[in-house]
Amino acid sequence: MLFKRLALTSGLLGLASARYALILPPGLFTGPITADYITPSLDQSDLDAPKLSHANASTFDWWTFDAIAAETPNASVAVTFSNAGPQGYPLPFPNNTSHINPNGTDNGGSGAEALWAHVWATFEDGSRFRTSQVVSTARVSGSGDSSLAIWHGGGGWMGSEEGYEVELDIDRAASAPGEEALRVSGRISLEKITPPHSRCSVPNNFSTALGLGDQGLGWVSVLPDALASVDIQINGRSLRFDGYGSHDKIWSSHPFTTTTKSLTRGRAHLGLFSLSWLSYTPAAGNPTNAALVSSFLARDGETVNAGCADGSVTITPTREQTEGGLVSGFQVTVPGARVSVATDIEEGESGGRHVRWNGRARGDILGADEEGVAIFERFEY
Ligand SMILES: *[C@@H]1O[C@H](CO)[C@@H](O)[C@H](O)[C@H]1NC(C)=O
Ligand SMILES: *[C@@H]1O[C@H](CO)[C@@H](O)[C@H](O)[C@H]1NC(C)=O
Ligand SMILES: *[C@@H]1O[C@H](CO)[C@@H](O)[C@H](O)[C@H]1NC(C)=O
Ligand SMILES: *[C@@H]1O[C@H](CO)[C@@H](O)[C@H](O)[C@H]1NC(C)=O
Ligand SMILES: *[C@@H]1O[C@H](CO)[C@@H](O)[C@H](O)[C@H]1NC(C)=O
Ligand SMILES: *[C@@H]1O[C@H](CO)[C@@H](O)[C@H](O)[C@H]1NC(C)=O
Repeated sequence: MLFKRLALTSGLLGLASARYALILPPGLFTGPITADYITPSLDQSDLDAPKLSHANASTFDWWTFDAIAAETPNASVAVTFSNAGPQGYPLPFPNNTSHINPNGTDNGGSGAEALWAHVWATFEDGSRFRTSQVVSTARVSGSGDSSLAIWHGGGGWMGSEEGYEVELDIDRAASAPGEEALRVSGRISLEKITPPHSRCSVPNNFSTALGLGDQGLGWVSVLPDALASVDIQINGRSLRFDGYGSHDKIWSSHPFTTTTKSLTRGRAHLGLFSLSWLSYTPAAGNPTNAALVSSFLARDGETVNAGCADGSVTITPTREQTEGGLVSGFQVTVPGARVSVATDIEEGESGGRHVRWNGRARGDILGADEEGVAIFERFEY
């Protein structure tokens, strides 16, 4: 079990050698907080460190892990561990908690909960599952290239130089008549392929500036691409596959939905290539309406092209007639690659303002025709 190993490793690490060891409280802080948008180093513990001094009602701090199957791209999983408040929060919370009240005050839930685990899963046959689970406490610690976290009642992760072991552990009793109990368990193993990437990182030069523009949105792709091995059970149904995974982190000291016009981020693995893209348009203070972009392309784990030049990333919706029928998707163009990603699975939530996709990828990378899989999402307000 991960948590036995976590406990053991935490013990071995000891408080003396840990760079940080924090208990995140279950309730929201009242008042102003501070956020870090610059990382002191590219050590995994620094990239994965909580970026907010506290979570208040209008801030959020996310750790996201995902994976898509290499052979059957309908199968995917994503997990976001979050420390956040309800104002401008982009993901759905379950009904009848304080998060339904945009003020974050108690309306019959257990209070202003801060700690959540969100899980999305899609199966080979196209069926989907998603849940949001409130958790009671969280612990995070980090030292050098290791980071450990437990969201009690949600899951956690253990990161090292080799990658991540993510564990899911949700056990929810039915709380209302007609509601089903929920048990989600299992693990996602991510074995590192590529080094960390931030918006304006270029090959062999990681940029420690993690802010996107001056609106106060932080982003870092701690692990842009990894070999993934997934073995999860959702109420007895198994989701097992080998494929590709990644881990990134997003946070802000501002409400997300009111400061964002759109945010799209995605990634694909084709042949030996790892590709990722991001396009962010803030809601205000952006007279030209220009998107802030970032791209990353690696071959066999070595970065070959990366950067953030204006206009260097384009993402265009497409509908293509193929031998297998009409395929909807997007064409993603970044320096070095022009790739079509199919929206084989589409899942919308929050009234369609958040959409997740996964599917096949195909295109031209550095002059070669490559095929693979992609997983991507968009927030739009
Ligand atoms: C949360 O902190 C931010 C940043 O200090 C501040 O602007 C905001 O007003 C705070 N929100 C609440 C609800 O206290
Ligand atoms: C919350 O309630 C609304 C309306 O009753 C319903 O459509 C929605 O599916 C519910 N969400 C969850 C997560 O149960
Ligand atoms: C939420 O609360 C309302 C009223 O208190 C109730 O009618 C509804 O069934 C509850 N929904 C869930 C998902 O518990
Ligand atoms: C939420 O805040 C708004 C504006 O500050 C206020 O008008 C409303 O009464 C508050 N609602 C609750 C349930 O506290
Ligand atoms: C993949 O999912 C789609 C639904 O989005 C479904 O139509 C298709 O049959 C699924 N593919 C397989 C191999 O089951
Ligand atoms: C790395 O990038 C920073 C700014 O992004 C620049 O100041 C520095 O000179 C670069 N270092 C190398 C070795 O290219």
